[in-house]
Amino acid sequence: MEQQLKAMLIEARKALLEAGNEVDLHSIRVQYLGKKGRLTAIMKDMGKLTAEERPIIGAVANKVKDELASVFEQQLQTLKHQHLAERMEQERIDVTLPGRHQRIGTKHPITLITEELVEIFSYLGFSVAQGPEVEEDFYNFEALNLPKDHPARDMQDTFYITDNEVLRTHTSPVQIRSMLQHQPPLRIIAPGTVYRRDSDITHSPMFHQIEGFMVDEHITFGDLKGVLTAFITECFGKNVGVRFRPSFFPFTEPSAEVDIQCVICGGNGCRVCQNSGWLEILGSGMIDPEVFASVNYSSEKYSGFAFGMGLERIAMLKYGVNDLRLFFENDVRFLRQFCA
Ligand code: FA5
Ligand code: MG
Repeated sequence: MEQQLKAMLIEARKALLEAGNEVDLHSIRVQYLGKKGRLTAIMKDMGKLTAEERPIIGAVANKVKDELASVFEQQLQTLKHQHLAERMEQERIDVTLPGRHQRIGTKHPITLITEELVEIFSYLGFSVAQGPEVEEDFYNFEALNLPKDHPARDMQDTFYITDNEVLRTHTSPVQIRSMLQHQPPLRIIAPGTVYRRDSDITHSPMFHQIEGFMVDEHITFGDLKGVLTAFITECFGKNVGVRFRPSFFPFTEPSAEVDIQCVICGGNGCRVCQNSGWLEILGSGMIDPEVFASVNYSSEKYSGFAFGMGLERIAMLKYGVNDLRLFFENDVRFLRQFCA
């Protein structure tokens, strides 16, 4: 039996040390040391031994068992290290490789223009107000001296939601909301989105305006010209051509539209300015007494001016963009050019 045990020890040690992975190693151990393993099989014959032989063989068997257990443990550690080393090799990271570049988003050009204009008007003492995009007929038209049957309602092709609600066609309703809320003196600008049934290279069904107005005692057309000229100089520089052109709005009297020399063609005429050399950027005028009446301001005591400008037009001129629809197509190649 001792011979058998020693032979098994040699064989088992060899098998354990040759195991190529942990699964094999475990099954080899079971094969020799398990309940139904070789060792148990050999020890079945213990009963046939004499009383003197038994403790001797018992001691040998224990030694074999201990030895194999330690070989197993040793091989297990070796396999674990090998496995780790293989993984380290496979999953090696070259930290000196250049990183993958992460693109950072940029602000939309209309946002950039809005921020710039708000800043310029803040210098001039204006503060910001806002109003809803779904607007009541009263604020969008009625209180601005545009009663229901007024022909001038046709000037702005309107998206109606109900008989009494519209997508606001301009930012001018914010004038009414502000004046109903506050007493003069007022110096307010109101940037926002507006909607009209309009679409070509200088018109879009959704676009942006900034409304501005100033109400106090003794405000004159001179103040209007002064503020708007200061703004245009600040925004476009001293050398750009500007003209005030007499116009009509139901909510201002007298009224003027302001044109800026077309920067796309340098004033020579192109499809953007429809060969006129000029692009209209805003409407303005002295606030009509009818408007003051609808907000209960005394037009004896107060006067004021107001203006509303198209932000896309200003962005086109400032950035030399020749089609307003580019602002809304969200082509990243276009948008990426406007990094602040
Ligand atoms: C108005 O909307 C008046 N509320 C402006 C105003 C305010 C006058 C206060 C007097 C006092 P108008 O419809 O002209 O006016 O539009 C003003 C500006 O918005 C235009 O000068 C133009 O720059 C821009 N605009 C008008 N329609 C469009 C459009 N469909 N797409 C892009 N910009 C437009
Ligand atoms: Mg106009």
